[in-house]
Amino acid sequence: MKIYELENLNPLTNSQLKEETGVIASSDIDLREVMNLVSSGQYNSFDEVTINENTPDETLGKFAKEHSHSDEEVRYFLSGQSIFDVRSYKDHWIRIEVEDKDFITIPANLFHRFFTPDKNVKALRLFSGKEGWVPNYREDTKDVSAV
Ligand SMILES: [Fe+2]
Repeated sequence: MKIYELENLNPLTNSQLKEETGVIASSDIDLREVMNLVSSGQYNSFDEVTINENTPDETLGKFAKEHSHSDEEVRYFLSGQSIFDVRSYKDHWIRIEVEDKDFITIPANLFHRFFTPDKNVKALRLFSGKEGWVPNYREDTKDVSAV
């Protein structure tokens, strides 16, 4: 996992990321630990998502558009490389490059976007509930002054 400020490429630690965005990101997490979170009731359900050459560009375009959710976004990466950009409390982009065995929790209502440069990713999505899963696109909100 690599974490850095997008505008100047300054590296950040995981704890700096958490301070500046609320995002919790951990590396080298075993799949069993993730499954324990589900069986212990911390999450209600999970599914597996695959992105490959058959994934429509339209779908990827939705992920890449800045948005938030009213529920947290929790992902465990099984393979491939992906990028999350998350908007810090001070309104700067912070980039998180993730790979297999990375576990990330994006808080509810934090604006973010997601890219898969190689179109070759497998990940688990963990849900507390399904209601909060609808994306709220930033351009559709009234607060676009900082875009
Ligand atoms: Fe999202």
